[in-house]
Amino acid sequence: MTSLWLDGAGDHQPQIDGSATKDAPNVEVIVVGAGITGLVVAALLARAGKRVLVVEARSAGAVATGNTTAKVSLLQGSRLSAISRRHSMDLVRQYVEGNREGQAWLAQYCTERGIELQYEDAYSYAQFERGLPTARAEFEAAVSAGLGVHWVDHMDVPFEFRGGVRLAEQIQFDPMPLLGALITELHERGGRLMTGHRVYAASTSDGRVSVKLRSAQGREQIAHADHCVLATGTPILDRGGFFARLHPSRSYCVAFDVPGSLPRSMMLSVDQPTRSVRYAPTAGGERLIVGGGGHTVGRKDSARTSYDELVGWTRRHFPGAEPTHYWSAQDYVPVDELPYVGPLLPGVDRFLVATGFAKWGMTNGVAAALLLAKRLLGGEQARWAPAFASWNPHELTGLTTALKNNLEVGWHMAAGWVSPIAHRNTPLREGAGSVSGPPWNMAARSVVGGEERRVSPVCTHLGGVLSWNDAEKSWDCPLHGSRFGPDGTVLEGPATRDLSR
Ligand SMILES: Cc1cc2nc3c(=O)[nH]c(=O)nc-3n(C[C@H](O)[C@H](O)[C@H](O)COP(=O)(O)OP(=O)(O)OC[C@H]3O[C@@H](n4cnc5c(N)ncnc54)[C@H](O)[C@@H]3O)c2cc1C
Ligand code: FES
Repeated sequence: MTSLWLDGAGDHQPQIDGSATKDAPNVEVIVVGAGITGLVVAALLARAGKRVLVVEARSAGAVATGNTTAKVSLLQGSRLSAISRRHSMDLVRQYVEGNREGQAWLAQYCTERGIELQYEDAYSYAQFERGLPTARAEFEAAVSAGLGVHWVDHMDVPFEFRGGVRLAEQIQFDPMPLLGALITELHERGGRLMTGHRVYAASTSDGRVSVKLRSAQGREQIAHADHCVLATGTPILDRGGFFARLHPSRSYCVAFDVPGSLPRSMMLSVDQPTRSVRYAPTAGGERLIVGGGGHTVGRKDSARTSYDELVGWTRRHFPGAEPTHYWSAQDYVPVDELPYVGPLLPGVDRFLVATGFAKWGMTNGVAAALLLAKRLLGGEQARWAPAFASWNPHELTGLTTALKNNLEVGWHMAAGWVSPIAHRNTPLREGAGSVSGPPWNMAARSVVGGEERRVSPVCTHLGGVLSWNDAEKSWDCPLHGSRFGPDGTVLEGPATRDLSR
């Protein structure tokens, strides 16, 4: 399952230099994670003369950034009304301002480097009557936040549209050329990117940060720095307990070849089932991208049905549509709806985090990078910074959601340890996986590419029992969203160690 962007099928094949240095250098800042957030902050710091090392467990863009729908929009589904239900209008405006700055920075950076952007209208719309109150609420929140939105009753699209909000001249793009340009700039300014190296531990001593990393071949190294930025999606260090303040949500995308012309606007339904629609120019002609099917990581019986549902819907509304690419990814929704950007622990700047973008990281990730770079370079913080604070009293508004999420986590923890008893050790068909055995001797078995593998079904983060993802052929944790390959290799999430085999 490779995304349109990672397949390089877009107009621009990025020139990503993923070369690793042989030894981890002694630097001023270590950035963990080479998605949009990590690479923007690294390029900004290198530009300001800092010695920077980026450590990436897989390859640049391999996790969320290369598997996004890449709308760079200030109208973001129903986010503004969701934020305004919990926070003052002042904070909502700050959130919008931060996103506006992130969007403007990205637009200028891409334009200066000849990276193609498409300027199109964005819509948050109701498919059905029942979605209208949410769309109306988004309209009100967007107006109060100062966005120049319009209400639209009718639209000429070949799918259900009951009414919605329009924000003109937003942006969509292919994110990989941006990552390529950021890596080029990082290298030109003396920074380094080590791909294929996973950070598995970090500590401070004598006022310095020590970061332990392991290559895919098992070689271990320690890198030292003054500061470490965790741009890892969900933070990989448990100090700060961010895993309990974030909800991991996975969604699906399919790209299609469609006869005839495609809608020009970026569409996102505010009612269920979620439908996210945009076009994408590629060397082989325009493609239609349809996204949706979101669910909590590890808690859907058959993830593959999400793809089936998207393909069925698209074929109904765009006759002759043929799928060319399937992909899925996850992002982290904060319990109080606002991103967390800043110290991992209150008042301590050695480790900094950037997370909680709730599937809007193309703008939020850049905003986070701007804030973190300023913090490390000693500049005055932006006036919109409070809406992005990693520790702030406004977070108390998320307390009930945090309690509810963590009760669900507790329930899934218990259910995982009890239910495998019911499973039988029967032969598995190709592409299937199952957890079997009594709680004191459980095994996770899967068959992929004709090879049967057995690994421990116990997540190396905090002991959740994994479930099989039949779309991605992975073991996914229903607690905080860690994912592992069939051979037990950690893929993403807060876990940093592979499953035992
Ligand atoms: C299906 C989907 C559609 C989306 N669509 C949009 C959209 O249209 N518009 C929008 O604005 N946003 C969208 N988003 C959200 C957006 O893609 C993300 O918020 C954004 O990409 C996050 O970027 P990041 O750099 O913070 O994280 P990532 O891109 O996930 O990068 C984190 C990196 O850290 C690395 N890493 C993790 N742990 C370690 C470790 N221990 N050691 C070393 N490296 C590590 C990972 O391998 C990864 O490469 C979407 C998200 C999803 C899931
Ligand atoms: S991700 Fe936390 S226990 Fe698995």
